[in-house]
Amino acid sequence: MIQQFIRKLREYYQRPSEAIYLIETAMFGNEYQFVKECLNSGKVSTIGSEVERLEQAIIQRTGAKYAVATSSGTAALHLGLLALGVKPNDWVLTTPFTFVATTNAIVHSGASPMFLDIDRRTLGLSPEVLAEFLANETYIDDSGQCVHTVSKRRIAACLPVHVFGHSAHMTEIVQVCNQYGIPVLEDSAEGLGSTCNGQPVGTHGKAGVLSFNGNKIVTTGGGGALFTSDLEVYQSVRSTASSTLSYSLLTSSPEGKTPEYGLTANSSKLETPGYSVSAVSTRYKIPGSNVIASVSQAQNSELKVAVGSSVGYNYRMPALNAALGLAQWEHLDQRIQKKRNLAHWYQSLFANSEVKVLDEPTDCFSNYWLNALIFPERNSRDQFVLDSTKAGIESRPVWTLLSRYPSFTNSYQMPLPNARWAESCMANIPSTIFPHA
Ligand SMILES: Cc1ncc(COP(=O)(O)O)c(C=O)c1O
Repeated sequence: MIQQFIRKLREYYQRPSEAIYLIETAMFGNEYQFVKECLNSGKVSTIGSEVERLEQAIIQRTGAKYAVATSSGTAALHLGLLALGVKPNDWVLTTPFTFVATTNAIVHSGASPMFLDIDRRTLGLSPEVLAEFLANETYIDDSGQCVHTVSKRRIAACLPVHVFGHSAHMTEIVQVCNQYGIPVLEDSAEGLGSTCNGQPVGTHGKAGVLSFNGNKIVTTGGGGALFTSDLEVYQSVRSTASSTLSYSLLTSSPEGKTPEYGLTANSSKLETPGYSVSAVSTRYKIPGSNVIASVSQAQNSELKVAVGSSVGYNYRMPALNAALGLAQWEHLDQRIQKKRNLAHWYQSLFANSEVKVLDEPTDCFSNYWLNALIFPERNSRDQFVLDSTKAGIESRPVWTLLSRYPSFTNSYQMPLPNARWAESCMANIPSTIFPHA
């Protein structure tokens, strides 16, 4: 079987002897031109128009009302958790069968991951396990918060993951979480273009996150995005993504007089009489407070200022990256179709074997971002990985469960039989798409 796999795959990719990797970045069209145009514009950083255009493309594709492009998917997850109100000492429900970034973001927010088991069909969070856990291991306290009975710590959010481009059972997961008042942030980093019950992944819960890392269906080199239809979540993410938080308008002043200032920050009015503004883009300390105001625009004595009222992150996506993403986005449907063709090709290749190709869940449409094989047991999986690697074809065992990571010793885990099964008998195989393949 392995010999046939090697021979046929080399034919498919038209690579008789060169190495074949899991995922190589594929350029289909205007990548060089769009990046060059961005360079020529001189606006390569976060104010370039490309960022807004990429956000609009995400809005159009997902149907979400708002999108914020970020410097990585991890950053978008972090901001999303903060926007949902996740705080230090909280739990966030998630699964251990994912890329480490999912759990890193939980730890960045100050909370701890609580690992629940996956569903064997989707490899995402099992709605049945979730429902059973919440019914048996939690209670609702006087303020209406869901609390973990043993640790007495709040369960602040649920972070399901769409694994390898296949949707988790989102309708059921959101239904269960709603019963307990737990907001859902979807890690759809790998799921651009995938749907569940006809609805794009990432739009079932409060917000969704994409990654545009180099190995994703659309890449910006490095980058990510959060999309949502919830105005409060959007406003929170938009402002915390920047180093400076809130923007407000200075009151106008009669000509020739020192302007009086009415700055709003966190809805409190900061009166600043007696400080004068003489230049655009100058930073001022507001007398009597620790707030720094930066004058960004002067027009008819109306000045726009940015006021740093709390700590933000510099998590915005630069225009140079967005330019690359926009060029890739032009061929998004073609890219997804090629991924699906490759998955179907693998399915016919392994049709008469004891090895199965992971298929899209019922009622879902998968982008098949990364193909995965299911072996009858660990030994045959390991042998396959060794043989294909020796033949210059990259394949690898799927993720080690995050519940085993020493860095997540502050986590809590429920029984994980399905996650252990997936960890022991699955392998990822090459999933690159090229214009020619
Ligand atoms: C499931 C999952 N979550 C989160 C991330 C983090 O995205 P990024 O690498 O853009 O930070 C990735 C991918 O890289 C991922 O595959």
